[in-house]
Amino acid sequence: MKFEQAERLSKLPTYVFALLDKLKEEERAKGKDLIDLTIGSPSHLPPKAAIEAHIKALNEPKSHKYSSFEGDPDFIAAVCHWCKQQYGISIHKDEVATLVGSKEGLAHFYMAYLNPGDTLLVPLPMYPSHFRGPALAGAEPIILPTVEKNGFLPELDIIDESIANKAKILSLSYPTNPTAATAPKEFFEKAVRFAKKHNLILIHDFAYAELYFEGKKPISCLSIPGAKDVCIEFHSLSKTFGMAGWRLGYAVGNKELVNSLKCIKTNLDYGPFAATVKAGTVALKTEKRYLDEMRLGYQMKRDIAVEGLNSLGWKLKKPMATFYLWIPVPAGFNAMTFVEHLLHKADVVLSPGIGFGDLGEGYVRMALVDSDEKISQAVERLKKAGIRYSG
Ligand SMILES: Cc1ncc(COP(=O)(O)O)c(C=O)c1O
Repeated sequence: MKFEQAERLSKLPTYVFALLDKLKEEERAKGKDLIDLTIGSPSHLPPKAAIEAHIKALNEPKSHKYSSFEGDPDFIAAVCHWCKQQYGISIHKDEVATLVGSKEGLAHFYMAYLNPGDTLLVPLPMYPSHFRGPALAGAEPIILPTVEKNGFLPELDIIDESIANKAKILSLSYPTNPTAATAPKEFFEKAVRFAKKHNLILIHDFAYAELYFEGKKPISCLSIPGAKDVCIEFHSLSKTFGMAGWRLGYAVGNKELVNSLKCIKTNLDYGPFAATVKAGTVALKTEKRYLDEMRLGYQMKRDIAVEGLNSLGWKLKKPMATFYLWIPVPAGFNAMTFVEHLLHKADVVLSPGIGFGDLGEGYVRMALVDSDEKISQAVERLKKAGIRYSG
């Protein structure tokens, strides 16, 4: 039998991370004890009270029913309160869509607004959902290159008018996975003006909203006056509360955009498991101390890794947000050959930058999501294997 996949699937380029999984599997089959710093799955645990709320909800018969399309009112109220408290943004209960993680929400939002042949503006390097999601909808991402010299911010001023006018969406995500870049208020102001001028939907993926260091708190795009006219912002409980496996997130912002997302979702799922939503509601009420400790934990890992790698010749700056390091590869390698070299010579696995778009070539991403000891050990393994950076 020959099954013919839909074009939307067969035209997708190979997922680099699936390839990497195969390589890891082969090494593990040989008995290798790998230090795997590829996937951005947080190492901190959810708040205890959230776990307890989940267990309690599991024993309540109503948790096992289909969830309501409108979402759990307690969760929605907690989201509105959280958004006000953390980001100073006023969100009405009708401006919230509950998501099975923000990745799901992003992919479905792109489906809700993009037709085959449509275009959207996407800075690269970027989290793959922002170019693979549109590709699944048959749309064509127009790449806005970002480089370190410009703080990994796209230059909106130089985009051709006709390209901007034709595009339907501008996608942003600060702090950024994989580059760990952050964006100042002025950039968001410019982005909102740009979106209004060119009649663009402005997506802001705010998955790393709480993962910042040294008091440098990232801002919500919705905190820019007038942003709600054009913007939908995606938030995630995965990174904030160490709940990546639970699958819970939400989108807030322009009501019409939120409603389109809800509409497409009513045809595809019933939302997250009710017990998970109850736990998420409790997580959103967690004391400030939990988040402070979480940030300090990743700051320590960041310092160990940056200082360790810099002792091997790199000249990395300490990122002010996310738990990623965006690391240039030594001369003579490309992203994938360096990943393979690290895997075979040092038993350390990092992500090739090309997984985040072509402009990630020449870089690898280290996710600081293991213990401090393992991160030190990873650097030691590089040292022992004679791996250094010499430009
Ligand atoms: C920038 C960014 N957005 C969204 C997501 C997806 O998060 P979630 O677990 O909420 O689906 C990730 C996960 O790594 C991410 O890095």
